[in-house]
This record gives sequence, C-alpha cells and structure tokens, in this order.
Amino acid sequence: MEGLDLASLEQRVSGCRKCSLWEKRTQSVFARGTAAAQVVFVGEGPGFEEDQQGLPFVGEAGQLLDRMIAAMDLGSEDVYICNIVKCRPPGNRNPEEAEAAACLPYLERQIELVGPKVIVLLGAVPLRFLLGKSGITRSRGNWLDYKGIPVMPTYHPAYLLRVPQKKRDVWGDLQQVMRLLGKDPAHVVGR
Ligand code: URA
Repeated sequence: MEGLDLASLEQRVSGCRKCSLWEKRTQSVFARGTAAAQVVFVGEGPGFEEDQQGLPFVGEAGQLLDRMIAAMDLGSEDVYICNIVKCRPPGNRNPEEAEAAACLPYLERQIELVGPKVIVLLGAVPLRFLLGKSGITRSRGNWLDYKGIPVMPTYHPAYLLRVPQKKRDVWGDLQQVMRLLGKDPAHVVGR
C-alpha cells in the first residue's frame, strides 16, 4: 500500500478480491469524513445500508455515532470514519480472521495517511483485529497505543442501541478523548 494516497487506495479497495467478501458486495465501503481528521473512528464492517450507499455508518448505528460525535463538539470536518473490513460480511456476521487480515493493510495505510491525534475503536472487532486484544468490556475506557497514536476502545453504537444503559460508560470514554483533544466536556454547550 506504500506510495498510495487515499484516492488511489479507495480505487484499489473498490476492485479488491483479496478475500471472498467481494462476491456478495454491492460495492466496497471505504470511509467518510476528512483526511485532515483529528479523530479516526474504526468500526467492524459495512452493514446493509452501508453496502447499499457505499459509505460507513449510515444506518441506525451510524446515526447514533453521529450524535456521539456531535456531543463531543466535533463535526465531519474533524473525523474520519472507517471499518476493519471494507465489504459487507453476509448477514452482518463478524468478519473472519482471514478476511480481517486481508483487509488490514488498507486500514493501516488509511491511518498512516490521516495521521490522527487519537483513534476510537468501536467494539470488540476492531480491538481484536487492529490491536490483537480480546475483551472490550475489560479494555474500554483505558488508553491503548497503535504505532504511537493513543487509542480509546469503547462499545459499538449498535450495542448501545440494544443496551442503552451502557451509554453512560461510552460517554465517559468519549470525554477522555475530548480531554486529550484539549476540549473541556463541562463547557460544551448544546448537548
Ligand atoms: N457497523 C459498523 O461497524 N460499521 C459500519 O460501517 C456500520 C455499522
């Protein structure tokens, strides 16, 4: 992937056949947001809506993610949103080890090119495949490191839709991210 800029990388992904997920995709799903982002959010992989629209996190979980981002006093000009795998796993199952391994070089290059101040991992799948760690319940809320970039693991917004009581934990995790960015959560208005 070395030498590829984001546009060429996206082009490469759109024709990728490195694992069998390409067979059932409508299209690949690369990213949304800005290449100048301070924060990169990493999810699992496209769902039905994302596969249809070609953009990550545009379904119900994505709407909640956008509300979380707004609550952090951030907007689309501050964030870059992408996934572990770029093609939809059939039936929204979790990506398999081989699929994630085949796709990981794309994500690694995305992160290298964006060069964010902080990475937020959404749920167990990115925690496992980006950092090789299991156990989101134990890890969430605790700073980790990816190639010198601080990483905050937290719950996936789809999980929050099922278990809204966990929103409080996630808000605590996101407040830590805000503080790292120099934002004072107590002084953010309009939440
Ligand atoms: N869930 C994810 O993990 N990623 C998306 O893009 C959409 C839903």
